[in-house]
Amino acid sequence: MGVAAPAASATPTDVAPDAVAAPPGDNLALTPPMGFNNWNSTHCRPEFNEEMVRGIADLFVESGLKDAGYEYVNLDDCWALPERDENGKLVPDPERFPSGLDALGDYIHSKGLKFGIYTSAGTKTCNPAGFPGALGHEVSDAQQFADWGVDYLKYDNCNNQGVDAVERYTAMRDALAATGRDIVYSICEWGQNQPWTWAQDVGHLWRTTGDITDTWDSVMSIFKRNVELAEYAGPGHWNDPDMLEVGNGGMTDTEYRSHFSLWAMMAAPLLIGSDLRVASEETFDILGNTEVIAVDQDPLGRQGTVVSSENGAWVLSKEMADGSRAVALFNESDTAQHVGTTAEAVGLPAADAYEMRDLWEHESYQTAGTISATVPAHGIEVFRVSPDGDWAQYPSAVEVGASAVQSEAGTTAELTTAVTNLGRTPAKSVSVDVAGPEGWTIEAGSATTSPALATDAALTTDWTVEIPPGTPGGSYDLTVTADYRSPRHQPRQDSLTVEAQVLVPPGEGTSYVSDLAFVREANGQGPVERDTNVGSVAAGDGTPITIEGTVFDKGLGTHAPSTVEIYTAGRCDVFSAQVGIDDAAGAGGGPPQRGSVTFEVWADGTRVAATGVLNGTAPAQPLTADVSGASFVELVVTDGGNGKNSDHADWADATVSCTA
Ligand code: GLA
Repeated sequence: MGVAAPAASATPTDVAPDAVAAPPGDNLALTPPMGFNNWNSTHCRPEFNEEMVRGIADLFVESGLKDAGYEYVNLDDCWALPERDENGKLVPDPERFPSGLDALGDYIHSKGLKFGIYTSAGTKTCNPAGFPGALGHEVSDAQQFADWGVDYLKYDNCNNQGVDAVERYTAMRDALAATGRDIVYSICEWGQNQPWTWAQDVGHLWRTTGDITDTWDSVMSIFKRNVELAEYAGPGHWNDPDMLEVGNGGMTDTEYRSHFSLWAMMAAPLLIGSDLRVASEETFDILGNTEVIAVDQDPLGRQGTVVSSENGAWVLSKEMADGSRAVALFNESDTAQHVGTTAEAVGLPAADAYEMRDLWEHESYQTAGTISATVPAHGIEVFRVSPDGDWAQYPSAVEVGASAVQSEAGTTAELTTAVTNLGRTPAKSVSVDVAGPEGWTIEAGSATTSPALATDAALTTDWTVEIPPGTPGGSYDLTVTADYRSPRHQPRQDSLTVEAQVLVPPGEGTSYVSDLAFVREANGQGPVERDTNVGSVAAGDGTPITIEGTVFDKGLGTHAPSTVEIYTAGRCDVFSAQVGIDDAAGAGGGPPQRGSVTFEVWADGTRVAATGVLNGTAPAQPLTADVSGASFVELVVTDGGNGKNSDHADWADATVSCTA
């Protein structure tokens, strides 16, 4: 905050505005804070304790994460006893922290790391156990933190008694400043009062959204809100899309790589939220990717912006202090797709060619200006692209692309692959091959080699893919491999794995949808459940489907926004269901929140039936649709236009009637 970006390349109008007033410890958080916070991994469970926190500090040093830039070791809620002592002082929970916080701070500092703590800008913190908050105790609590050697405060928003947010957060800023200690100040009011508009001179970072959860849906919704706020971020004042979930188990490694990369592109604080003591190798590889971290930590302090976004194909660009651009090609969709842009579109000056450094592969390539890739479902590619005069020393970048395969067992499907040379110099001796599962026959119907591909030229090949009869329905990997030579370089190989989906047609007569394979599913909370409601986030945690007291044995339990796609093979004519909001919606305590949604049926991309907005007090409604001739039917639930809270939507007794 208050420090103009040390940006050689920035034009004067580009530079973050100079300080109006200084938050505590000016010159702090000139790059987004990095470290650890226990909340996402432990919440208030007993494993949040001294042993864990020390273990994380040890691991930061031993694993190299400290060298990679992770610095703060932060405690979240539940570190204190519910009552203050007779002097109004906070008391650390002696069961969790038998040695006290003074000693814990010393331990963390002895490792060359920094110590962070949490409280709320309210009378109590957020946990229902009711730990003391700092509203009205700002000066005393800030002094106590400083005495413990605290270097970072996360200041939450619960139990705020309706006191104005600016007033509450400013009071703590002043109290922290009065201690004279450098303390990074993290405002956590969930974006409720648009802190990006007023907090630049109050705190060093501010949450922009509600809490993250360990789900793809949560990461996507937070990303979409936070990415819009790029103009407000800069050195010393960052948008905070909440702490990382990488490694907590609710997403795939591909999704965690995307989550981490998107956070880095948005210059977000990188606070590890998983228990590193039990983390996988892959988790360490993601969190420890120093080239992606360098994107986050770039001293220019720009938050990346959206260059384009269409059908879930996102291009983001982040201006870097050295004049390069970090470019992310992100595929939000459920199938692999081409995502592309150009050096010009991301703001780079014209040049013969550019260095295009792949920050996950750790390899440099040359491009004549096209920046593109075919990106797997939910995947991301991050490049650092520079107008580097030495581009000729790098091999040409090549995009390996492929169409989707969806077909029944015992049929022959068509596949098209394309190998495109993005480099300025030709890609030579290009060849392509496709490998599938054991027993599948994959044959080329056109050329699989090219002596040379000029800039932006492609070797396009048609293939037939014979799926053996009896192959069970589901997804199978097809690997497309391209070999080529780039002038003055060793032979190169690049590959892409795409999904081939084996479809199973419904049987003759009436089938319950919950007994059919899904071609695709997306769900607003946890997975879609078969023959129960959606429950909470875990798979299989639903209870019987119940709509206004009527219990159904069969059906789909979903949560808005949701799409379930089934294969109807052109053989079905009627879809039918009883739809409504499950009685379990909003059963989590507090005032009943019964949700509101719409149910829609789509046949081969055309909406063929829909309800109006239904809410949680409506009895089950019949919904039927003519789906004759359609190959695919999608069952869609929208949030009814008011957000997805409590939108537990049931497709009770959902069936399709089909001929053989
Ligand atoms: C709020 C915050 C979370 C976490 C919890 C602790 O929900 O937004 O990040 O600190 O409180 O109770």
